[in-house]
Amino acid sequence: MRVVDLDRDMSDVIPTGTTRDSEYVFDRMTQATLAATRPGPGRRILDVASGFGQDAIELQTRGAWVVGAEPSERMMAWTRMKSGEASGPVPGWVQAWGDALPFADDSFDAAFCKGALDHFDQPDTAIAEMARVTRPGGRVVLTIANYDSFTCRASRVVDDLTEFALNRPMRRGRRHYDVPNDHFTRYDLALMHEQLETHVAVDHVEGLSLAWGLPIWTRTIGHLPAGLADISLRTLDRIARYAPSLADVLILAGTPLKKAVKKGC
Ligand SMILES: C[S@@+](CC[C@H](N)C(=O)[O-])C[C@H]1O[C@@H](n2cnc3c(N)ncnc32)[C@H](O)[C@@H]1O
Repeated sequence: MRVVDLDRDMSDVIPTGTTRDSEYVFDRMTQATLAATRPGPGRRILDVASGFGQDAIELQTRGAWVVGAEPSERMMAWTRMKSGEASGPVPGWVQAWGDALPFADDSFDAAFCKGALDHFDQPDTAIAEMARVTRPGGRVVLTIANYDSFTCRASRVVDDLTEFALNRPMRRGRRHYDVPNDHFTRYDLALMHEQLETHVAVDHVEGLSLAWGLPIWTRTIGHLPAGLADISLRTLDRIARYAPSLADVLILAGTPLKKAVKKGC
């Protein structure tokens, strides 16, 4: 039996709009991921683990021909309800696991998976599947939270100092660098490269945002005037681009590696 919850919803996912730095990182993550698929009129794009379907719908409004694949019954029900309210063309919705995509080889110009690979019980197979259904020269895009980010490292140092040097009790609840209990994998840049490069020729590595969720930073940015907060967030974002291993979120993309097909004699 599969251990993945077919009834899952987003109730245990980090809220996207509670603080200024959270709003910034989630918006950047969406915009950068969609841009990496190179959307445009007529492009065939697959959203793997499409969740509520908001990214697939956004791409469809930009003229792409989009399919959202999602295994959860509950997420699918919400998605269908939401897209039923849309006025323009809507994506096709398919209930499917990432590791068994029900599409022929080379069906799409691009396949992407945003903020979900760490929920998969078979991420390697899912990446292979994304590469299989993407045409030669197309784009495979993976976006994921970095659990070896500057924030995770700094939070760990602060916690270690408080616990051991100051002999204070361990902080209760999930710490920033702890992987949530609905994740199977703790991703960082090295692991992303390792898993992706078996199936994809990676030509794009992008780090997004820095210091997201660091309590002192979240509080400070929340109190700054909007313009100054925006400049600060953008400046850190620029640094993350040069130092992706420290970034809060990683985007890796490239073209699928196609295995040579043996011709019959
Ligand atoms: C945090 S949500 C992200 C959804 C969406 N990509 C977004 O950015 O809003 C993770 C999604 O992964 C889906 N998921 C979990 N395991 C999966 C698997 N093995 N194959 C495909 N999707 C899976 C869940 O049902 C959930 O909708």
